[in-house]
Amino acid sequence: MLYACQDRYGDMFTLRIAYEGKWVMLADPEAVRQVFTGDPRVFHAGEGNQILAPILGRNSILVLDEKPHMSQRKLLLPPFHGARMAGYEQTMGEIAAAEIDSWPTGTPYKLRPRMQALTLEIILRTVFGVGEEERLAPLREALRDFLDLSTNPRMLLPLVLMGPERVRRFPAFRRRIDRVDELIYREIAERRRVGDLEDRDDILSMLVAARHEDDSPMSDEEIRDELLTLLVAGHETTATSLSWAVERLARHPEKLARLREEAEAGEDDSYLTATIQETLRLRPVISIVIRRLTEPVEIGGYELPAGVSVTPSIYLIHRNPEIYPDPESFKPERFLDNPPGTYNWIPFGGGVRRCLGASFAQFEMAVVLKELVKRHQIRPANPKPERVFRRAITETPRHNAEVILN
Ligand code: HEM
Repeated sequence: MLYACQDRYGDMFTLRIAYEGKWVMLADPEAVRQVFTGDPRVFHAGEGNQILAPILGRNSILVLDEKPHMSQRKLLLPPFHGARMAGYEQTMGEIAAAEIDSWPTGTPYKLRPRMQALTLEIILRTVFGVGEEERLAPLREALRDFLDLSTNPRMLLPLVLMGPERVRRFPAFRRRIDRVDELIYREIAERRRVGDLEDRDDILSMLVAARHEDDSPMSDEEIRDELLTLLVAGHETTATSLSWAVERLARHPEKLARLREEAEAGEDDSYLTATIQETLRLRPVISIVIRRLTEPVEIGGYELPAGVSVTPSIYLIHRNPEIYPDPESFKPERFLDNPPGTYNWIPFGGGVRRCLGASFAQFEMAVVLKELVKRHQIRPANPKPERVFRRAITETPRHNAEVILN
């Protein structure tokens, strides 16, 4: 449908979406640049995410705009700085190795649920900073329950139709949120009591130590809202991207072999980096970025009124043959000598709303893929490539990346 609209109307066209209003799709990198560098008072992202507020809380960076957004973003940025990610390498590698060693060989196996278990474990240890099994177990169970509900495609319709406030009063929903809250507030309280906060490298500890501009600490509620935001934003997205990487590699044995050779030599990660970039180009797990206009804006020669949303189309930009020749083919090589551009490779959005976890996610994908290809031969369980299937938020492989490992 997007291709058909682009053929007919060009790189800018309007869709009317039920309960959402008008979306002006943008498929031209220059228009995308204008949106990402535009005034955050005019291009609102949080407004479009209000549906998440009852789940993530009113302080969540995802649902805020302008000053309150910037103030949360400043607190969250330092822990996610690219250079800091190397500190997580060992933990991520150990979790990945243990998980991958538990996977069966010689039989068709759906990887996506396992990748979700893996990314959840990594978040529990690096973001929540919980390591002991007796505290991990209840938290893991409560969060899994909560995630099942919040990322279930069947929840999306009631959320849209009934509105988030009424859905929140559903007993099943309430119970799960209450349980998660109880455990998270307990972790926050315990972390406030420890004496060695500066020596800890998990994100919760850094948020407990962080200070607002007026030197006040973050409240328990702020920290709770951001922890759940990081979990919801970072868990399924990374697991799904990893699943797509394996799905694509399994169908390109020569590329998989090259990746394995590089991983075994252990000197250079450039093909691995290019493979991750190409996976995120060809199978972006989120296909649009949304900004709602608070004032009229001119884009691409059109005056757009306040109230409409502009939606850079990750999908169409990533498939533009002028930017990416032979766009439907999986070719990590294309990124080897040409690093991705800021406005034509946008799996993590851009500007002041660019994904906070972009470095975290790419680092995690690299660690997990390396552990996997070093241990196993991988072939597809079914010769036909998996189609893209839309879940509540992410676009996933139709058969959950079913492969046979040896
Ligand atoms: C491959 C994995 C991931 C993908 C494809 C992805 C993609 C995205 C996209 C498209 C956005 C919206 C950007 C925009 O509006 O311009 C976003 C925002 C965000 N992501 Fe990610 N993400 C991933 C992993 C993560 C991880 C691991 C975390 C944290 C642990 C995370 C935390 C966030 C946060 C907090 C925001 C909101 C930023 C803001 O509004 O200022 N993401 N992500």
